[in-house]
Amino acid sequence: MNDTFAREVLDGLSATPKKLPSKYFYDKKGDHLFQQIMKLDEYYLTSCEHEILSSSKEALLKLSTAGGKPFNLVEFGAGDGYKTKILLRYFLEQKADFEYAPIDISENVLELLENNLKEELPDLQLKPVADDYFSALHSLRNGGRRNVILFLGSNIGNFTEELAFNFLGKVYDAMKRDDLLLIGFDLKKDPAIIRAAYNDSKGVTREFNLNLLRRINTELKAGIDVDKFIHYPVYNPMTGTAKSYLVSTEDQEFEINGTKISLEAWEAIHTEVSQKFSLNDITRMAIQTGFTELENYFDKRRYFVDAVWKK
Ligand code: AVJ
Repeated sequence: MNDTFAREVLDGLSATPKKLPSKYFYDKKGDHLFQQIMKLDEYYLTSCEHEILSSSKEALLKLSTAGGKPFNLVEFGAGDGYKTKILLRYFLEQKADFEYAPIDISENVLELLENNLKEELPDLQLKPVADDYFSALHSLRNGGRRNVILFLGSNIGNFTEELAFNFLGKVYDAMKRDDLLLIGFDLKKDPAIIRAAYNDSKGVTREFNLNLLRRINTELKAGIDVDKFIHYPVYNPMTGTAKSYLVSTEDQEFEINGTKISLEAWEAIHTEVSQKFSLNDITRMAIQTGFTELENYFDKRRYFVDAVWKK
């Protein structure tokens, strides 16, 4: 793990232009900062999706239980389960026959979630899978149960377009005929609202972005002077792409595993993509990856959509 981290960090910082993979935001500190981000008013995504799941839980249970068989509720990248608990609680109340299988590569995150759920929802049938999404999905193919796959939070927006199509194609291939995919997309909206979501007034997102450098310092003993970087997020309404950068305010140098990295004043490191979508973009993605769109559930402001696709 640490080797892969070192290699990917070095590759990214040796490339032109410089970049770092956003998946590395999520160490312990990063997980915590992201929890803080989700509580910010400016970060509307979480509350929107919370609202959507609350208002569509009945419809979602109907879709999941159609045919009358038990089902697996499978979640890609479960995190703290804050939003999923709306569904879990409701499904349990309705005495639905289902098993919840949160999938995450981080055993740490899964363990926390497992402990929390055992306490809060003792009746829940729980089967956490510490694996990558596709191996996990494969192990869930057998047994004949329908898999209802959750991919919430507009996490799909962290992929470049090419990777997103590729990922959805693989999900499609791993799914069985009867399976469903519930996928969250952050929609295109007033650019000022999007900008504020990635440049919050409390500076939590700034810390979240800078934490990537702190992680490199801790894990790779890099000695980067974090104070010589600014957090700089941008949103391009033309493409719907929000991007975050770390911009070096002066010439600087540091070493990682014996390799010297230098940055010129005002050189930027690209750290994250958070794609925003139109409904047309979403339909195009569904069609091109083989899916059929079943439902779109919106919040009242229409900032966000949870789409249900079938194979
Ligand atoms: C968890 C990937 C959906 O891109 O909006 C929040 C992560 N980055 N603030 C997003 C994030 C900066 C978030 N996702």
